[in-house]
Amino acid sequence: MGTWIINGNVPEKGQDRLTAKHLYIENGKIAAIRDASEGEPDTAGHETIDAKGKLVSAGFIDMHVHLREPGFEYKETIATGTRSAARGGYTVIACMPNTRPVIDKVETVNYVLDKAETEGVIRVLPYGCITKNQLGRELTDFAGLKEAGVVGFTDDGVGVQSAQMMKDAMALAASMNMPVIAHCEDNTLVEGGAVTEGEFARKNGMKGIPNESEAIHVGRDILLAEATGVHYHVCHVSAEQSVRLIRHGKQHGVKVTSEVCPHHLLLSDEDIPGMDANWKMNPPLRTPADVEAVIAGLEDGTIDIIVTDHAPHSEEEKARGMQLAPFGIVGFETAFPLLYTKFVRTGRWTLEFLLERMTSKPAELFGLPWGVLEEGREADLTLIDLETEKAVDPAEFLSKGRNTPFTGWKLYGWPTLTMVAGKTVWSE
Ligand code: DOR
Ligand code: ZN
Ligand code: ZN
Repeated sequence: MGTWIINGNVPEKGQDRLTAKHLYIENGKIAAIRDASEGEPDTAGHETIDAKGKLVSAGFIDMHVHLREPGFEYKETIATGTRSAARGGYTVIACMPNTRPVIDKVETVNYVLDKAETEGVIRVLPYGCITKNQLGRELTDFAGLKEAGVVGFTDDGVGVQSAQMMKDAMALAASMNMPVIAHCEDNTLVEGGAVTEGEFARKNGMKGIPNESEAIHVGRDILLAEATGVHYHVCHVSAEQSVRLIRHGKQHGVKVTSEVCPHHLLLSDEDIPGMDANWKMNPPLRTPADVEAVIAGLEDGTIDIIVTDHAPHSEEEKARGMQLAPFGIVGFETAFPLLYTKFVRTGRWTLEFLLERMTSKPAELFGLPWGVLEEGREADLTLIDLETEKAVDPAEFLSKGRNTPFTGWKLYGWPTLTMVAGKTVWSE
């Protein structure tokens, strides 16, 4: 017995159109994809899912998320985080190591992988720390962590302050063919800032976080990546200067790739309504000119992929106000609807452009076997309703986090069913 997903709309490679197709799934894999014009399949004895009117996409891949386990289970767990991701259409997520303890030892990697296996509903790929305790002083056991199954090294949450430490990390990672993923932030330029240096900070008399705090690390690291030959991946690009430096690095043949989050593509500091910490994240919302620059960077290929930086926090923590609340917003359950509604429905991007940056490109960048809908692949996919408009309601989130600036936004493109290896892991 297998599963037929019938009459779904499947994107055609290289063409901006959808074709009605039937997919047959057996033993967790896509066994056949048929044109619906060839007629109805014989579904007798099989499970049937009617996908009429729905988009069928490869499951989304999010290479930058915070699941909070171990240590911060009151913010999120692997159980709730993976369910939230599944509701957003994600089938693969790579989780950041700034947990408690941080993921800097083999046993913590094993803990996360075990939890994901037993309590998670989608694929979870852990990152390992670059430095022990993320303190920037001593490298972790890269070989051991790789062996345990990490997909890259990062100290996300903080920047690696020492150039020598970063260079050593890159040289070691390069020697074992592993990527270094960087949260770019020079602490000496940040101290105490909660929002970007811009209109909002000026109007409210607040210290701003300058673009250079990000871009200085981007520039430094591109030079170090050139020297060491590592695959260097820049996290959550937010500043115009960073885009410029990455573009330059790529032009010079450096193996640099990068990512951007929906909020940095859609919001600027001038949209912040007041002292509401649901608008506080790191890097912060930048100026309208920076927003245009990251959009242009994504459009010209300087920025490769879209990630959420899903960063749940409790309501109590976020109620501490703009200055004291922790940085971060949730992202899984709004990412696709936001980008589909604001960039695809408006005609700026094709649907294929958006889907590639959430599926096949992240897979390609990190050498993953998922992200493509074709015969023989694992049946990781999501069905999406592109026609029903619905407002963002954090009360519906499966994440423990309710911290979003997008409450009430009326959007299209809501996932209705998500499947991992042929098994439905979430449906409406
Ligand atoms: O907004 C953020 N939240 N940025 C980070 O770098 C860390 C993350 C978190 O862990 O909450
Ligand atoms: Zn970060
Ligand atoms: Zn992060």
